[in-house]
Order: sequence, then C-alpha cells, then structure tokens
Amino acid sequence: MNKFLIALTILGFCAAANFKCTAEMKATKFCTREFMPVCGIKMAEKGSSKYSSIKDTYGNKCSACAEERVEFYAEGSCEEYPKNATFCHPEAHLSKICTRQLFPTCGLFDDSINCAKSPCGSNFNNKCMACVNKSVSYLVAGYCDRHEQYKY
Ligand SMILES: *[C@@H]1O[C@H](CO)[C@@H](O)[C@H](O)[C@H]1NC(C)=O
Ligand SMILES: *[C@@H]1O[C@H](CO)[C@@H](O)[C@H](O)[C@H]1NC(C)=O
Repeated sequence: MNKFLIALTILGFCAAANFKCTAEMKATKFCTREFMPVCGIKMAEKGSSKYSSIKDTYGNKCSACAEERVEFYAEGSCEEYPKNATFCHPEAHLSKICTRQLFPTCGLFDDSINCAKSPCGSNFNNKCMACVNKSVSYLVAGYCDRHEQYKY
C-alpha cells in the first residue's frame, strides 16, 4: 500500500479535462509529426457510453482522432494517469441517468476543482455517477480514502 502511495505521489498524475474529437478531426487524413502526446480513448462496443478504459498514447491529438474508434482524448500520455484509469466521455454529463448500484469509485476532477493536492478526488457510488459530474475526468476503482492523496 505505501509503495503504491509513494509511486502515485512521485508520478503526480494529470488533472486535465477530456476533449471530444470533432468531426473535422475525425475526417483528417494527414497529421503533422509534432510531439504533443495525448491519451486517445476508444469506446467499448458493448458497455457504457459514459466512460471507457480502452486507451493508447498517440503523438498528438490529430493522430489520436484520426484513429478509427478514438472518440475523445485526455491531455498527456496515458502513462501520466493511473494504470487502470477509466476516462469519462466529455459528454457523459449530458444524460444523468445512472443506476444507484454500489461499486465504490474514486472520481478524479479536472483542474476546475481545487484541493490541497492535485488531482482532487471524491467518492461516487459507481462509474456512471462519477462521470455524470462534469468535472470528473477519470476514475479508479475503490474509494478515494484508500488513496490518501486523492482526498477532496
Ligand atoms: C488494475 O486492474 C487489474 C485488473 O483488473 C487489477 O488486478 C489491479 O488490482 C488493478 N490495479 C489497481 C491499482 O487498481
Ligand atoms: C461535482 O462534484 C463536485 C465535488 O464534489 C461538486 O462540487 C459539484 O457540485 C459536482 N457537480 C455536479 C454537476 O454534480
């Protein structure tokens, strides 16, 4: 447990918002080789439309969005986020319908929420309930208080 906490502290995970690939970005045929890595996220074919953990690092947002099933991206490489991070779709908050089933989840906020130590986290009943909060950009399994530094 301590080792896990130390690793998280040293890595200093990202606290940025997610961005949807625009129609123009999806239609792009050529991308520059500019290196501004993003974590591109593909939605699962079956499963929630509010979040996904299918992710890969791309050299820039253009090449991420040019990839067939990438729907949105988070700033920085995927490695800048916890290994098991599940990312919230940028439009997840548009439909607030969620079950109340309890699957303890720690939602990590983007930089619109401030706390002593970034990223700031808060506990949610499940992934859906975390992602319908517009400020949550990604989540990890379990309550935040198991990861001291996430405390909101
Ligand atoms: C990440 O996910 C794997 C497989 O689901 C699990 O075994 C592991 O405990 C998870 N790690 C963390 C830090 O949650
Ligand atoms: C999201 O969570 C934050 C922190 O708990 C809270 O202040 C905010 O009101 C929530 N936003 C919505 C839309 O529920």
